[in-house]
Amino acid sequence: MKSFSIIVKKKINKFNKSIFVEGDKSISHRALLISSQAYGVSKLRGLLEAEDVLNTIKALRKLGVKIIKYKNIYHIYGNGLGSLKTKNNLTINAGNSGTLARLLMGLLTTYPHKIKIIGDKSLSKRPMGRVIAPLERFGCSFTKNKKTLPLYITGTEMPLATKHEEKIGSAQVKSSIIFASLNSPGITEIKELKKSRDHTENMLKFARAKIKIKKFKNYNLICIEGQKDFEAFDLNIPGDISSAAFFIVLTLLTKDSVIKIKKINLNSTRDGIIKILKKMNAKIKLMNIKTVCGEKVGDIVVKSSSLKSAKCPVSLVPILIDEFPILMIAAAKAKGVSNFPNLLELNTKESPRLNLMNKILNQVGVKTKLNKGKIKIFGNPNLNLENKAYKVNSMSDHRIVMACVSMALTFGGKIKISGCNSIATSFPNFLKIIRYIGGKNIYEIQ
Ligand code: S3P
Repeated sequence: MKSFSIIVKKKINKFNKSIFVEGDKSISHRALLISSQAYGVSKLRGLLEAEDVLNTIKALRKLGVKIIKYKNIYHIYGNGLGSLKTKNNLTINAGNSGTLARLLMGLLTTYPHKIKIIGDKSLSKRPMGRVIAPLERFGCSFTKNKKTLPLYITGTEMPLATKHEEKIGSAQVKSSIIFASLNSPGITEIKELKKSRDHTENMLKFARAKIKIKKFKNYNLICIEGQKDFEAFDLNIPGDISSAAFFIVLTLLTKDSVIKIKKINLNSTRDGIIKILKKMNAKIKLMNIKTVCGEKVGDIVVKSSSLKSAKCPVSLVPILIDEFPILMIAAAKAKGVSNFPNLLELNTKESPRLNLMNKILNQVGVKTKLNKGKIKIFGNPNLNLENKAYKVNSMSDHRIVMACVSMALTFGGKIKISGCNSIATSFPNFLKIIRYIGGKNIYEIQ
């Protein structure tokens, strides 16, 4: 897709709206990958049709999985564990998606062919060593001495169930190991020392696969009995809290405004943004809470609020990992100094998000102090950029773009943001919803 920039020229006026955001990205990837390993036809409703997820569909089709969209429902024809059609030198393009690259490597661990995984410029810089090491212990091998894409993975016909300790707090690493274990005989155990999003575990339980989670005081023990087929399932995918987050902060920072965001995934391993904003005095209410297909879902009602600074505990970092860019915008408008613990993990994302957000905040006059991954943000509720103009380089990172659009709509000023085509990787309807709630004077230019 051609790259375009966005120019925002005015603050958003007060609004009172009810919206839906698109399906959860993490759940959508997993729904496709897990149903491809089930027996029978799975039906997926509410699948996110963004570039990252469309790349997962393309990858699975290349691996012989029949996928048909009929009346907005995706039908996935699974043939059980070990049924992907692999051959030597097949190339899979993961595009911008770390989740696709890492989770698919897990599945490919048990196929004895040499498969090339490639990605775009941003993904080719991201660390793959974190999945290479645990997957090699199952018996597969990777291009020697290389820890970034492009990479060849050569799976094994004789995988070994193993034991792992997950210390990064990465759901992608955990899920990659779980995917490798599904087709490996014996019981694989993952000691999860830092809790991360648990959609893979929830979905496998929902599909009645052989997975057990034992909860201990300081860790979870995830046990998967491999080579046990499970049946196809029907799944309703809720809205993505990571997409909702932009509208939550936009509402908090816009006077006299209210928004209701319906049917959002409220999984306790994803709701860190709500937990921290509430501590910052945000008026947020959760309503109509239900369990849908193994996941907590509900409506989020947000009212404009006078925020106070954030003190972010380490324990919240993995559960709000994707929301730091927009949370930092909220912190810049809060009263007092916000303190964040070591966020170096953010620099391994689609862009070096910690460094980039620090740079952008400084560019628009927000004082920060960045030291060894810890950042302090000196908030100013009266910050107003009207009559000023800025150019922001998003490094084509979707979440940076959307955080900056939200910033421009609440801080004022004339802000030009580059690399906005990246919005399509996770939230294609973002600008449409912004305009629906009243965002005006937003120009898309080539
Ligand atoms: C994801 C996990 C997180 C997150 C990413 C999606 C997932 O990455 O940042 O956007 O779907 O498992 P890590 O597991 O690397 O923290």
